[in-house]
Amino acid sequence: MIHSANFHHRDQHYKTVFFETFGCQMNKLDAELSLGLLQEEGYKIVDNVDKADVILFNTCSVRQRAEDKVYSHLGALRILKKKHPDIIVGVLGCMAQKDGEAIFKRMPHVDLVCGTRMFSRLPELILKIRNHGSHVIAIDEDHIVNIKRAITYRPNTYQAFVTVMRGCDNFCSYCIVPYVRGREISRTIEDIKEEVRALISNGCKEVTLLGQNINSYGKSLNTTTTLGDLLSELNDLDGLERIRFVTSHPTDMSRDLIRTMSRLEKVCEHLHMPAQSGSDRILKEMRRGYVSNYYRELIHFAKEHIPHLTVASDFIVGFPGETDEDFQETVQLMETLRFQNCFIFKYSPRTGTRAAELKDDVPDEVKKSRNLKLLELQKRISLEKNKKLIGKQVQVLVDGASKSDPNRLSGRTRQNHIVVFSGSKDLIGELVDIRIHEVTDLTLYGTLKNSPYPA
Ligand code: 5AD
Ligand code: SF4
Repeated sequence: MIHSANFHHRDQHYKTVFFETFGCQMNKLDAELSLGLLQEEGYKIVDNVDKADVILFNTCSVRQRAEDKVYSHLGALRILKKKHPDIIVGVLGCMAQKDGEAIFKRMPHVDLVCGTRMFSRLPELILKIRNHGSHVIAIDEDHIVNIKRAITYRPNTYQAFVTVMRGCDNFCSYCIVPYVRGREISRTIEDIKEEVRALISNGCKEVTLLGQNINSYGKSLNTTTTLGDLLSELNDLDGLERIRFVTSHPTDMSRDLIRTMSRLEKVCEHLHMPAQSGSDRILKEMRRGYVSNYYRELIHFAKEHIPHLTVASDFIVGFPGETDEDFQETVQLMETLRFQNCFIFKYSPRTGTRAAELKDDVPDEVKKSRNLKLLELQKRISLEKNKKLIGKQVQVLVDGASKSDPNRLSGRTRQNHIVVFSGSKDLIGELVDIRIHEVTDLTLYGTLKNSPYPA
């Protein structure tokens, strides 16, 4: 063990870690799994870089902005690292996989670059830096991720994310994911069931299954296993109340899966299924594999078969060559399908993808104004839809204290609405019935059935 005068204010045993995560849910879960692993190795998690011996960023490459943010955070650590050279600074995840050695060139004070498939080796890699010095890189593409979950390290005991597949084989023309997360690999049903059983015995009532392209779950297993089979098996587990899954791709979303969803009582009535655009010309350039009418029919079919289904979507504005007419078709799609909520992004070229070879010809102001228009449209639709819930009763799994008002509780409906209400902290982790009396575009407010609390 190295002892340094620089470290007198830090943990004597050199074992505190600061961890910050950017990007998607899968990244947050990878962070959770890595922290579980580090905790088992004796690391203490701290919430401030000034208290940390090891500083790790789990990064995202999906848009340039996500990368810029990480580089600016890294830049800000230069002074701290100069003062305390023994601190270990690490870049993990998608940007580490994508930029590799180039990170050391741009930020020489970074010690570790650890790709998307190497998390399980984190403790060993940190040790290597301590013993042999800086600039350790681990971005092996063939490594298969297998992180044993430390069930005890979870931000919320009642809800958990579970990775069921990693990677993506779709190669949408704008997307970096297949390059940084690699080919699709599914876990076996048995493996997943074992993890979910352990979560249930630790108090978990709701699981959200994660996969970049979850409808192709099972394809890499060389069996006939499908996502429907996995959902059916999980539906049978005693103690589990709710099952969700993200993210769905319209092309791989089978009608069979929709029928299975409607049959299984624990599978929630919610789909996150990005449309990306309403223009057939742009969808073709994006290599999405469908036309907008196919998407519309799929949503109609799902809504017919799954009563009260809500759908969330993603859209990219300003894809190369997107004209006002193309954009209008996206507006129309949003107006007719009336999503519960939408995530809207300005196109950002990613080196190495097919679309990066096209000219990024939509000016930033146009991207901004299209982005704003869609946000406003969706806000209006969400509010109108939420207003229809006033007076209705909804089932809520209580997550904890509300973020905006710690004296109130918050939770989610099966359709993924956020609900805020007054109630005893004892209700955290319980399923409760709430009557809605007020709404905004993002939140429903209500009262507990038979509540002694004022509305
Ligand atoms: N530029 C902008 N948005 C993108 N997304 C993926 N790649 C890009 C890109 N290059 C969006 C898509 C996807 C979401 C996670 O991010 O809408 O569904
Ligand atoms: Fe970002 Fe995609 Fe990586 Fe998630 S998988 S962190 S969205 S680049």
